[in-house]
Amino acid sequence: MPVLETPPLRTLFLLDPEVIFLNHGSFGATPRPVFEDYQHWQRALERQPVQFIVSELNTHLTAARQAMGAYIHADPDDLVFVPNATFGVNVVARSLTLAEGDEILASNHEYGACENVWDFLCRKTGAVYKRQPIPLPIPSPDEWVHQFWQGVTARTKVIFLSHLTSPTAATFPIQAICARARAEGILTVIDGAHAPGQIPLEMEALGADFYTGNCHKWEFSLHEIPRAIRVFRLWCE
Ligand SMILES: Cc1ncc(COP(=O)(O)O)c(C=O)c1O
Repeated sequence: MPVLETPPLRTLFLLDPEVIFLNHGSFGATPRPVFEDYQHWQRALERQPVQFIVSELNTHLTAARQAMGAYIHADPDDLVFVPNATFGVNVVARSLTLAEGDEILASNHEYGACENVWDFLCRKTGAVYKRQPIPLPIPSPDEWVHQFWQGVTARTKVIFLSHLTSPTAATFPIQAICARARAEGILTVIDGAHAPGQIPLEMEALGADFYTGNCHKWEFSLHEIPRAIRVFRLWCE
């Protein structure tokens, strides 16, 4: 097995030095400076809980929304912080008024935990969750939209899609789908759990009605990816 030099970036993480951690897709590790900063905020809260929540929190959240908005090209007033993508999909899905026979159209590449809420709501309301098959390899964007649109009917109320898929690591043509859906009066709910940190995001241009994302996955591995590929190749040799 080749000897690997100690990567300087490793010192930024609290990870077990014996482990080569490649799975930032499930629960990404928190870099040390981020960990220290969030402890700083926890201490600020504990020192003066009422003052912090009533008088200070909103100012800090506004600043954080502005920073995030600049990063993903979104209007800060359109952003809401949630614990994770699944939580965000739940908030959106449970806020919609679904009726018997309404259809939620998804692909057959969606993430199970997010599909649970649609299944739950369909059982409750009589709406229908449909998985439109998209073959592998993933077709060209035009062909993709064409194939997906075969599943749209007059009852399609919501389109639910991953931006980057979990089981197949595909990137879906979200902008084209959102544009067509908007033109036809269909709401779009996009699960971007894997997008921040893997691809640049232009939220305004994407045109989704609702977009949920995660900063605890690939955001912290951005600079690690080329190294991880190098390490993986060395191990395979
Ligand atoms: C496509 C997709 N959506 C949503 C999630 C859920 O992410 P979280 O558990 O952070 O809500 C995952 C998790 O890997 C995912 O792959």
